[in-house]
Amino acid sequence: MSTSHETSAPSAGNSTAPGAGGSGMPIGRLPAHVPPFFSPAFAADPGPTLAWLRENSPIYAEPFSRMLVVTRHEDSEAALRHPALSAAGGQSDRSARSGAPVTMLNTDGPDHDRLRRPAGQLLGPTAVRSISTDLEADLQAIIDGLVDLAEPPDLLTDVAEPLSTAVLARLFAIEDPQARVALDAHARAVQVTLNPVPDPRTAQAGQDAMAAFIEFLDEVLTDVPEGTPLAALVADPTLSRDEVKGVLSLCLVGGWSPWADALTSTVRAALADPAVAERVLAGAQAPGLVEEVLRWHTPIPFVARRATSSLDLPSGSIPQGAMVLVHIGSANRDGAVFEQADEVVAQRIPREHLALGSGAHFCMGAALIRATAPSAAHRLLATYPDLAAGDLGPVTWRTGIFPRSVESTTLLLAPSPEVPST
Ligand code: HEM
Repeated sequence: MSTSHETSAPSAGNSTAPGAGGSGMPIGRLPAHVPPFFSPAFAADPGPTLAWLRENSPIYAEPFSRMLVVTRHEDSEAALRHPALSAAGGQSDRSARSGAPVTMLNTDGPDHDRLRRPAGQLLGPTAVRSISTDLEADLQAIIDGLVDLAEPPDLLTDVAEPLSTAVLARLFAIEDPQARVALDAHARAVQVTLNPVPDPRTAQAGQDAMAAFIEFLDEVLTDVPEGTPLAALVADPTLSRDEVKGVLSLCLVGGWSPWADALTSTVRAALADPAVAERVLAGAQAPGLVEEVLRWHTPIPFVARRATSSLDLPSGSIPQGAMVLVHIGSANRDGAVFEQADEVVAQRIPREHLALGSGAHFCMGAALIRATAPSAAHRLLATYPDLAAGDLGPVTWRTGIFPRSVESTTLLLAPSPEVPST
Protein backbone atom coordinates (compact mmCIF):
# COMPACT_ATOMS: atom_id res chain seq x y z
CA MET A 1 0.00 0.00 0.00
CA SER A 2 1.47 3.31 -0.97
CA THR A 3 -0.87 5.80 0.66
CA SER A 4 -3.79 5.62 2.99
CA HIS A 5 -7.08 7.44 3.25
CA GLU A 6 -7.51 10.02 5.87
CA THR A 7 -10.09 8.89 8.37
CA SER A 8 -13.45 10.44 7.55
CA ALA A 9 -16.95 9.98 8.83
CA PRO A 10 -19.08 7.56 6.80
CA SER A 11 -21.27 10.26 5.41
CA ALA A 12 -19.01 13.30 5.40
CA GLY A 13 -20.26 15.65 2.70
CA ASN A 14 -23.85 14.56 3.25
CA SER A 15 -26.64 16.71 4.57
CA THR A 16 -28.86 15.71 7.41
CA ALA A 17 -31.90 15.22 5.18
CA PRO A 18 -34.23 12.25 5.77
CA GLY A 19 -32.79 8.77 5.26
CA ALA A 20 -32.15 7.13 1.88
CA GLY A 21 -34.44 4.24 1.10
CA GLY A 22 -35.53 4.08 4.73
CA SER A 23 -31.95 3.24 5.64
CA GLY A 24 -31.70 6.05 8.14
CA MET A 25 -28.57 7.36 6.39
CA PRO A 26 -28.50 11.04 5.44
CA ILE A 27 -29.10 11.86 1.79
CA GLY A 28 -25.81 12.61 0.05
CA ARG A 29 -24.96 16.04 -1.29
CA LEU A 30 -22.10 16.53 -3.68
CA PRO A 31 -20.31 19.85 -4.17
CA ALA A 32 -21.36 21.67 -7.36
CA HIS A 33 -18.12 20.82 -9.20
CA VAL A 34 -18.62 17.03 -8.72
CA PRO A 35 -20.86 15.42 -11.38
CA PRO A 36 -23.76 13.54 -9.76
CA PHE A 37 -24.30 9.81 -10.23
CA PHE A 38 -26.25 8.87 -13.38
CA SER A 39 -25.52 12.30 -14.98
CA PRO A 40 -24.09 12.31 -18.54
CA ALA A 41 -20.83 13.75 -17.17
CA PHE A 42 -20.58 10.86 -14.69
CA ALA A 43 -21.25 8.30 -17.43
CA ALA A 44 -18.55 9.87 -19.61
CA ASP A 45 -16.01 9.86 -16.77
CA PRO A 46 -17.01 8.67 -13.30
CA GLY A 47 -13.43 9.14 -12.06
CA PRO A 48 -13.73 12.62 -10.45
CA THR A 49 -16.97 11.75 -8.63
CA LEU A 50 -15.63 8.44 -7.35
CA ALA A 51 -12.33 10.01 -6.27
CA TRP A 52 -14.23 12.68 -4.32
CA LEU A 53 -16.45 10.08 -2.67
CA ARG A 54 -13.51 7.85 -1.72
CA GLU A 55 -11.89 10.79 -0.02
CA ASN A 56 -14.88 12.57 1.52
CA SER A 57 -17.93 10.32 1.70
CA PRO A 58 -16.93 6.66 1.35
CA ILE A 59 -20.42 5.41 2.21
CA TYR A 60 -22.62 7.76 0.24
CA ALA A 61 -26.43 7.91 0.29
CA GLU A 62 -27.14 8.42 -3.42
CA PRO A 63 -30.35 10.45 -3.75
CA PHE A 64 -31.66 9.13 -7.11
CA SER A 65 -31.31 5.37 -6.57
CA ARG A 66 -31.65 5.75 -2.77
CA MET A 67 -28.77 3.31 -2.36
CA LEU A 68 -25.67 3.52 -0.20
CA VAL A 69 -22.67 3.64 -2.52
CA VAL A 70 -19.45 2.12 -1.18
CA THR A 71 -16.35 3.37 -3.00
CA ARG A 72 -13.17 2.46 -1.07
CA HIS A 73 -11.30 -0.78 -1.66
CA GLU A 74 -11.24 -1.88 1.99
CA ASP A 75 -14.98 -1.25 2.40
CA SER A 76 -15.85 -2.89 -0.93
CA GLU A 77 -13.91 -6.05 -0.18
CA ALA A 78 -15.40 -6.25 3.33
CA ALA A 79 -18.89 -5.67 1.88
CA LEU A 80 -18.54 -8.42 -0.75
CA ARG A 81 -17.47 -10.86 1.96
CA HIS A 82 -20.01 -9.83 4.60
CA PRO A 83 -22.71 -12.47 5.26
CA ALA A 84 -25.27 -9.79 6.18
CA LEU A 85 -25.10 -8.26 2.69
CA SER A 86 -27.44 -10.36 0.59
CA ALA A 87 -26.99 -10.84 -3.15
CA ALA A 88 -30.54 -12.22 -3.34
CA GLY A 89 -31.87 -8.98 -1.82
CA GLY A 90 -29.61 -6.88 -4.01
CA GLN A 91 -30.68 -8.63 -7.21
CA SER A 92 -34.38 -9.07 -6.44
CA ASP A 93 -35.64 -6.03 -8.39
CA ARG A 94 -33.49 -6.73 -11.45
CA SER A 95 -34.34 -10.44 -11.45
CA ALA A 96 -38.08 -9.72 -11.24
CA ARG A 97 -37.83 -7.10 -13.98
CA SER A 98 -35.81 -9.17 -16.44
CA GLY A 99 -37.58 -12.48 -15.93
CA ALA A 100 -34.16 -14.00 -15.21
CA PRO A 101 -34.37 -17.48 -13.66
CA VAL A 102 -33.29 -18.21 -10.10
CA THR A 103 -29.53 -18.58 -10.20
CA MET A 104 -26.51 -18.62 -7.93
CA LEU A 105 -26.21 -14.85 -8.49
CA ASN A 106 -29.58 -14.06 -6.93
CA THR A 107 -29.47 -16.54 -4.03
CA ASP A 108 -27.58 -16.69 -0.73
CA GLY A 109 -26.35 -19.32 1.73
CA PRO A 110 -27.20 -22.99 1.14
CA ASP A 111 -29.36 -22.23 -1.96
CA HIS A 112 -26.41 -20.42 -3.50
CA ASP A 113 -23.99 -23.22 -2.64
CA ARG A 114 -26.30 -25.85 -4.13
CA LEU A 115 -26.60 -23.93 -7.41
CA ARG A 116 -22.93 -22.94 -7.61
CA ARG A 117 -21.20 -26.25 -6.83
CA PRO A 118 -22.32 -28.17 -9.96
CA ALA A 119 -21.50 -25.21 -12.23
CA GLY A 120 -17.83 -26.06 -11.67
CA GLN A 121 -18.37 -28.92 -14.12
CA LEU A 122 -18.98 -26.32 -16.83
CA LEU A 123 -16.70 -23.49 -15.71
CA GLY A 124 -14.01 -25.00 -13.48
CA PRO A 125 -10.34 -25.20 -14.60
CA THR A 126 -10.60 -28.86 -15.68
CA ALA A 127 -13.66 -28.14 -17.83
CA VAL A 128 -11.96 -25.11 -19.38
CA ARG A 129 -8.82 -27.13 -20.14
CA SER A 130 -10.92 -29.82 -21.83
CA ILE A 131 -12.32 -27.39 -24.41
CA SER A 132 -9.23 -25.24 -24.86
CA THR A 133 -7.77 -26.87 -27.98
CA ASP A 134 -11.02 -26.54 -29.96
CA LEU A 135 -11.58 -23.09 -28.55
CA GLU A 136 -8.14 -21.86 -29.59
CA ALA A 137 -8.85 -23.10 -33.12
CA ASP A 138 -12.20 -21.24 -33.12
CA LEU A 139 -10.53 -18.00 -32.01
CA GLN A 140 -7.72 -18.33 -34.57
CA ALA A 141 -10.22 -18.94 -37.40
CA ILE A 142 -12.06 -15.71 -36.59
CA ILE A 143 -8.80 -13.77 -36.30
CA ASP A 144 -7.52 -15.17 -39.60
CA GLY A 145 -10.80 -14.19 -41.29
CA LEU A 146 -10.48 -10.52 -40.34
CA VAL A 147 -8.35 -9.74 -43.40
CA ASP A 148 -11.24 -10.81 -45.64
CA LEU A 149 -13.62 -8.16 -44.29
CA ALA A 150 -14.52 -5.49 -46.82
CA GLU A 151 -13.79 -2.64 -44.36
CA PRO A 152 -11.05 -2.30 -41.74
CA PRO A 153 -12.40 -4.18 -38.73
CA ASP A 154 -13.81 -2.52 -35.66
CA LEU A 155 -12.06 -3.79 -32.54
CA LEU A 156 -15.25 -4.27 -30.55
CA THR A 157 -17.90 -5.34 -33.06
CA ASP A 158 -15.77 -7.25 -35.59
CA VAL A 159 -13.18 -8.72 -33.25
CA ALA A 160 -13.99 -8.81 -29.54
CA GLU A 161 -17.72 -9.55 -29.68
CA PRO A 162 -17.44 -12.38 -32.27
CA LEU A 163 -14.59 -13.88 -30.23
CA SER A 164 -16.71 -13.65 -27.08
CA THR A 165 -19.56 -15.42 -28.87
CA ALA A 166 -17.11 -18.12 -30.00
CA VAL A 167 -15.97 -18.66 -26.40
CA LEU A 168 -19.55 -19.12 -25.22
CA ALA A 169 -20.51 -21.26 -28.23
CA ARG A 170 -17.68 -23.68 -27.40
CA LEU A 171 -18.72 -23.66 -23.73
CA PHE A 172 -22.32 -24.41 -24.73
CA ALA A 173 -21.06 -27.15 -27.12
CA ILE A 174 -22.71 -25.42 -30.10
CA GLU A 175 -21.04 -26.49 -33.37
CA ASP A 176 -23.73 -25.63 -35.93
CA PRO A 177 -22.85 -22.28 -37.61
CA GLN A 178 -26.52 -21.20 -37.76
CA ALA A 179 -26.96 -21.88 -34.06
CA ARG A 180 -23.79 -19.85 -33.39
CA VAL A 181 -25.29 -16.93 -35.31
CA ALA A 182 -28.45 -17.29 -33.21
CA LEU A 183 -26.37 -17.36 -30.00
CA ASP A 184 -24.67 -14.13 -31.08
CA ALA A 185 -28.06 -12.47 -31.66
CA HIS A 186 -29.32 -13.61 -28.23
CA ALA A 187 -26.14 -12.34 -26.57
CA ARG A 188 -26.72 -8.89 -28.04
CA ALA A 189 -30.44 -8.88 -27.24
CA VAL A 190 -30.15 -9.83 -23.56
CA GLN A 191 -27.72 -7.01 -22.82
CA VAL A 192 -30.66 -4.68 -22.14
CA THR A 193 -31.36 -6.65 -18.96
CA LEU A 194 -28.12 -5.23 -17.52
CA ASN A 195 -29.49 -1.68 -17.49
CA PRO A 196 -29.83 -0.87 -13.77
CA VAL A 197 -32.39 1.91 -14.34
CA PRO A 198 -34.49 0.78 -17.36
CA ASP A 199 -37.56 2.65 -18.60
CA PRO A 200 -40.67 0.44 -19.06
CA ARG A 201 -39.93 -0.21 -22.75
CA THR A 202 -36.37 -1.30 -22.02
CA ALA A 203 -37.59 -3.51 -19.18
CA GLN A 204 -40.10 -5.18 -21.52
CA ALA A 205 -37.41 -5.65 -24.20
CA GLY A 206 -35.27 -7.33 -21.54
CA GLN A 207 -38.02 -9.73 -20.55
CA ASP A 208 -38.72 -10.62 -24.18
CA ALA A 209 -35.03 -11.18 -24.89
CA MET A 210 -34.61 -13.39 -21.84
CA ALA A 211 -37.70 -15.45 -22.74
CA ALA A 212 -36.41 -15.95 -26.30
CA PHE A 213 -33.00 -17.04 -25.02
CA ILE A 214 -34.53 -19.54 -22.59
CA GLU A 215 -36.51 -20.98 -25.53
CA PHE A 216 -33.30 -21.22 -27.57
CA LEU A 217 -31.69 -23.12 -24.69
CA ASP A 218 -34.41 -25.76 -24.98
CA GLU A 219 -33.02 -26.55 -28.45
CA VAL A 220 -29.40 -26.45 -27.26
CA LEU A 221 -30.15 -28.85 -24.42
CA THR A 222 -32.02 -31.41 -26.52
CA ASP A 223 -28.85 -32.60 -28.20
CA VAL A 224 -25.76 -32.01 -26.04
CA PRO A 225 -22.62 -33.77 -27.38
CA GLU A 226 -21.36 -36.42 -24.97
CA GLY A 227 -18.10 -35.87 -23.13
CA THR A 228 -18.47 -32.07 -23.05
CA PRO A 229 -18.56 -29.95 -19.86
CA LEU A 230 -22.16 -29.04 -20.71
CA ALA A 231 -23.10 -32.74 -20.85
CA ALA A 232 -21.64 -33.17 -17.35
CA LEU A 233 -23.67 -30.22 -16.07
CA VAL A 234 -26.89 -31.51 -17.66
CA ALA A 235 -26.32 -34.97 -16.16
CA ASP A 236 -25.87 -33.58 -12.64
CA PRO A 237 -28.74 -35.00 -10.56
CA THR A 238 -28.74 -32.03 -8.17
CA LEU A 239 -29.81 -29.51 -10.82
CA SER A 240 -33.18 -29.24 -12.55
CA ARG A 241 -33.39 -28.39 -16.26
CA ASP A 242 -34.45 -24.84 -15.36
CA GLU A 243 -31.47 -24.49 -13.05
CA VAL A 244 -29.12 -25.60 -15.84
CA LYS A 245 -30.69 -22.92 -18.02
CA GLY A 246 -30.10 -20.47 -15.18
CA VAL A 247 -26.37 -21.22 -15.23
CA LEU A 248 -26.21 -20.73 -19.01
CA SER A 249 -28.19 -17.51 -18.89
CA LEU A 250 -25.75 -16.13 -16.28
CA CYS A 251 -22.84 -16.96 -18.57
CA LEU A 252 -24.46 -15.10 -21.46
CA VAL A 253 -25.81 -12.08 -19.59
CA GLY A 254 -22.87 -11.67 -17.22
CA GLY A 255 -20.06 -12.96 -19.43
CA TRP A 256 -20.48 -12.00 -23.07
CA SER A 257 -20.15 -8.25 -22.95
CA PRO A 258 -17.56 -8.04 -20.12
CA TRP A 259 -15.34 -10.57 -21.90
CA ALA A 260 -15.53 -8.52 -25.12
CA ASP A 261 -14.92 -5.29 -23.18
CA ALA A 262 -11.91 -6.79 -21.40
CA LEU A 263 -10.38 -7.86 -24.71
CA THR A 264 -11.09 -4.47 -26.30
CA SER A 265 -9.34 -2.73 -23.41
CA THR A 266 -6.38 -5.09 -23.50
CA VAL A 267 -5.80 -4.63 -27.24
CA ARG A 268 -6.36 -0.90 -27.03
CA ALA A 269 -3.87 -0.63 -24.19
CA ALA A 270 -1.38 -2.67 -26.24
CA LEU A 271 -1.78 -0.38 -29.24
CA ALA A 272 -1.22 2.67 -27.04
CA ASP A 273 1.81 1.43 -25.12
CA PRO A 274 4.70 -0.68 -26.49
CA ALA A 275 5.36 -2.04 -22.96
CA VAL A 276 1.83 -3.44 -22.83
CA ALA A 277 2.12 -4.81 -26.40
CA GLU A 278 5.32 -6.59 -25.41
CA ARG A 279 3.54 -8.21 -22.45
CA VAL A 280 0.63 -9.29 -24.67
CA LEU A 281 3.04 -10.85 -27.13
CA ALA A 282 4.77 -12.65 -24.28
CA GLY A 283 1.48 -14.56 -23.98
CA ALA A 284 1.64 -17.19 -21.26
CA GLN A 285 4.55 -15.33 -19.68
CA ALA A 286 2.28 -12.37 -18.96
CA PRO A 287 -0.71 -13.75 -17.09
CA GLY A 288 -0.87 -10.69 -14.85
CA LEU A 289 -1.63 -8.32 -17.70
CA VAL A 290 -5.24 -9.34 -18.11
CA GLU A 291 -5.69 -8.83 -14.35
CA GLU A 292 -4.23 -5.35 -14.62
CA VAL A 293 -6.51 -4.47 -17.53
CA LEU A 294 -9.48 -5.89 -15.61
CA ARG A 295 -8.50 -3.77 -12.61
CA TRP A 296 -8.16 -0.62 -14.66
CA HIS A 297 -11.30 -1.20 -16.72
CA THR A 298 -13.64 -3.13 -14.36
CA PRO A 299 -16.30 -3.97 -17.02
CA ILE A 300 -18.87 -4.74 -14.30
CA PRO A 301 -18.31 -1.57 -12.26
CA PHE A 302 -20.69 -2.23 -9.36
CA VAL A 303 -22.77 -4.95 -7.73
CA ALA A 304 -25.85 -4.60 -5.52
CA ARG A 305 -26.55 -6.06 -2.08
CA ARG A 306 -29.23 -5.61 0.61
CA ALA A 307 -28.37 -5.52 4.31
CA THR A 308 -30.29 -8.25 6.15
CA SER A 309 -29.10 -6.79 9.47
CA SER A 310 -27.08 -3.75 10.45
CA LEU A 311 -23.33 -4.14 10.00
CA ASP A 312 -20.06 -2.27 10.21
CA LEU A 313 -17.63 -1.65 7.40
CA PRO A 314 -14.21 -0.08 8.04
CA SER A 315 -15.51 3.40 7.09
CA GLY A 316 -18.88 3.26 8.80
CA SER A 317 -22.10 1.44 9.54
CA ILE A 318 -24.77 0.13 7.20
CA PRO A 319 -28.28 -0.03 8.65
CA GLN A 320 -30.56 -3.05 8.27
CA GLY A 321 -32.62 -2.94 5.08
CA ALA A 322 -30.29 -0.59 3.19
CA MET A 323 -29.62 -1.26 -0.49
CA VAL A 324 -25.87 -1.09 -1.05
CA LEU A 325 -24.05 -0.46 -4.31
CA VAL A 326 -20.52 -1.82 -3.98
CA HIS A 327 -18.56 0.20 -6.55
CA ILE A 328 -15.78 -2.22 -7.44
CA GLY A 329 -14.71 0.06 -10.30
CA SER A 330 -13.95 2.72 -7.72
CA ALA A 331 -12.28 0.22 -5.37
CA ASN A 332 -9.98 -0.78 -8.23
CA ARG A 333 -8.84 2.83 -8.67
CA ASP A 334 -8.22 3.37 -4.96
CA GLY A 335 -4.81 5.02 -4.54
CA ALA A 336 -4.59 3.58 -1.03
CA VAL A 337 -4.08 0.15 -2.60
CA PHE A 338 -2.80 0.74 -6.14
CA GLU A 339 -0.05 3.16 -7.09
CA GLN A 340 -0.73 5.04 -10.35
CA ALA A 341 -4.25 3.65 -10.03
CA ASP A 342 -5.55 5.45 -13.12
CA GLU A 343 -2.90 3.97 -15.42
CA VAL A 344 -2.50 0.50 -16.99
CA VAL A 345 0.89 -0.48 -15.59
CA ALA A 346 2.19 -3.25 -17.83
CA GLN A 347 4.34 -5.02 -15.22
CA ARG A 348 1.85 -4.91 -12.35
CA ILE A 349 0.10 -8.04 -11.09
CA PRO A 350 -2.76 -6.51 -9.10
CA ARG A 351 -3.74 -9.47 -6.96
CA GLU A 352 -6.08 -7.37 -4.80
CA HIS A 353 -8.32 -6.20 -7.68
CA LEU A 354 -12.06 -6.77 -7.31
CA ALA A 355 -13.07 -6.80 -11.01
CA LEU A 356 -14.23 -10.41 -10.68
CA GLY A 357 -15.87 -9.83 -7.31
CA SER A 358 -14.85 -11.43 -4.03
CA GLY A 359 -16.27 -13.86 -1.51
CA ALA A 360 -19.13 -16.27 -2.14
CA HIS A 361 -20.13 -14.80 -5.52
CA PHE A 362 -16.61 -14.53 -6.96
CA CYS A 363 -16.90 -14.80 -10.76
CA MET A 364 -17.26 -18.40 -11.87
CA GLY A 365 -15.99 -17.44 -15.32
CA ALA A 366 -12.54 -16.57 -13.92
CA ALA A 367 -10.79 -19.71 -15.21
CA LEU A 368 -12.35 -19.23 -18.64
CA ILE A 369 -11.41 -15.55 -18.81
CA ARG A 370 -7.84 -16.22 -17.69
CA ALA A 371 -7.44 -19.02 -20.23
CA THR A 372 -8.98 -17.19 -23.18
CA ALA A 373 -8.65 -13.41 -22.99
CA PRO A 374 -4.81 -13.24 -22.86
CA SER A 375 -4.50 -15.83 -25.58
CA ALA A 376 -7.01 -14.06 -27.84
CA ALA A 377 -5.09 -10.79 -27.46
CA HIS A 378 -1.81 -12.63 -28.06
CA ARG A 379 -3.15 -14.34 -31.20
CA LEU A 380 -4.44 -11.07 -32.63
CA LEU A 381 -1.11 -9.27 -32.21
CA ALA A 382 0.92 -12.30 -33.30
CA THR A 383 -1.22 -12.86 -36.42
CA TYR A 384 -0.96 -9.21 -37.46
CA PRO A 385 2.49 -7.98 -36.40
CA ASP A 386 1.83 -4.61 -38.09
CA LEU A 387 -1.47 -4.12 -36.28
CA ALA A 388 -2.26 -0.47 -35.74
CA ALA A 389 -5.22 1.65 -34.77
CA GLY A 390 -7.03 3.90 -37.23
CA ASP A 391 -8.03 6.50 -34.66
CA LEU A 392 -6.31 5.93 -31.37
CA GLY A 393 -6.95 9.07 -29.34
CA PRO A 394 -7.30 9.44 -25.59
CA VAL A 395 -9.48 6.78 -23.96
CA THR A 396 -13.18 7.56 -24.12
CA TRP A 397 -16.01 5.46 -22.71
CA ARG A 398 -19.29 4.51 -24.28
CA THR A 399 -22.24 6.20 -22.62
CA GLY A 400 -24.18 3.96 -20.30
CA ILE A 401 -22.76 3.08 -16.94
CA PHE A 402 -23.27 -0.71 -16.93
CA PRO A 403 -21.50 -2.62 -18.26
CA ARG A 404 -18.64 -0.20 -18.79
CA SER A 405 -16.98 -0.20 -22.19
CA VAL A 406 -14.10 1.58 -23.80
CA GLU A 407 -15.10 3.35 -27.01
CA SER A 408 -14.09 1.13 -29.88
CA THR A 409 -11.29 1.58 -32.36
CA THR A 410 -10.84 0.83 -36.04
CA LEU A 411 -8.01 -1.61 -36.62
CA LEU A 412 -5.57 -1.36 -39.50
CA LEU A 413 -4.38 -4.88 -40.11
CA ALA A 414 -1.85 -4.07 -42.78
CA PRO A 415 -1.03 -0.37 -42.77
CA SER A 416 0.42 0.95 -45.99
CA PRO A 417 4.14 1.67 -45.73
CA GLU A 418 4.95 5.23 -44.79
CA VAL A 419 5.77 7.51 -47.71
CA PRO A 420 9.26 8.91 -47.00
CA SER A 421 9.17 12.67 -46.56
CA THR A 422 11.15 14.63 -49.08
C1 HEM B 1 -14.06 -10.13 -18.06
C2 HEM B 1 -15.24 -10.68 -17.98
C3 HEM B 1 -16.03 -10.83 -16.69
C4 HEM B 1 -16.10 -10.01 -15.61
C5 HEM B 1 -15.42 -8.67 -15.41
C6 HEM B 1 -16.96 -10.66 -14.64
C7 HEM B 1 -17.26 -10.15 -13.39
C8 HEM B 1 -18.05 -10.79 -12.45
C9 HEM B 1 -18.37 -10.26 -11.15
C10 HEM B 1 -17.91 -8.91 -10.62
C11 HEM B 1 -19.14 -11.16 -10.51
C12 HEM B 1 -19.69 -11.06 -9.09
C13 HEM B 1 -21.10 -10.53 -9.06
C14 HEM B 1 -21.59 -10.27 -7.64
O1 HEM B 1 -20.83 -10.40 -6.68
O2 HEM B 1 -22.78 -9.93 -7.50
C15 HEM B 1 -19.34 -12.28 -11.41
C16 HEM B 1 -20.09 -13.39 -11.12
C17 HEM B 1 -20.27 -14.42 -12.02
N1 HEM B 1 -19.69 -14.56 -13.25
FE1 HEM B 1 -18.46 -13.26 -14.14
N2 HEM B 1 -17.39 -11.84 -15.16
C18 HEM B 1 -16.85 -11.98 -16.41
C19 HEM B 1 -17.03 -13.02 -17.28
C20 HEM B 1 -17.73 -14.14 -16.99
C21 HEM B 1 -17.88 -15.25 -17.89
C22 HEM B 1 -17.23 -15.33 -19.29
C23 HEM B 1 -18.68 -16.15 -17.27
C24 HEM B 1 -19.14 -17.47 -17.76
C25 HEM B 1 -19.03 -17.92 -18.98
C26 HEM B 1 -19.01 -15.61 -15.97
C27 HEM B 1 -19.79 -16.24 -15.03
C28 HEM B 1 -20.12 -15.72 -13.80
C29 HEM B 1 -21.02 -16.38 -12.88
C30 HEM B 1 -21.72 -17.72 -13.10
C31 HEM B 1 -21.11 -15.56 -11.75
C32 HEM B 1 -21.98 -15.78 -10.51
C33 HEM B 1 -21.19 -16.36 -9.36
C34 HEM B 1 -22.02 -16.49 -8.12
O3 HEM B 1 -23.02 -15.78 -7.97
O4 HEM B 1 -21.69 -17.34 -7.27
N3 HEM B 1 -18.42 -14.40 -15.85
N4 HEM B 1 -18.64 -12.02 -12.58
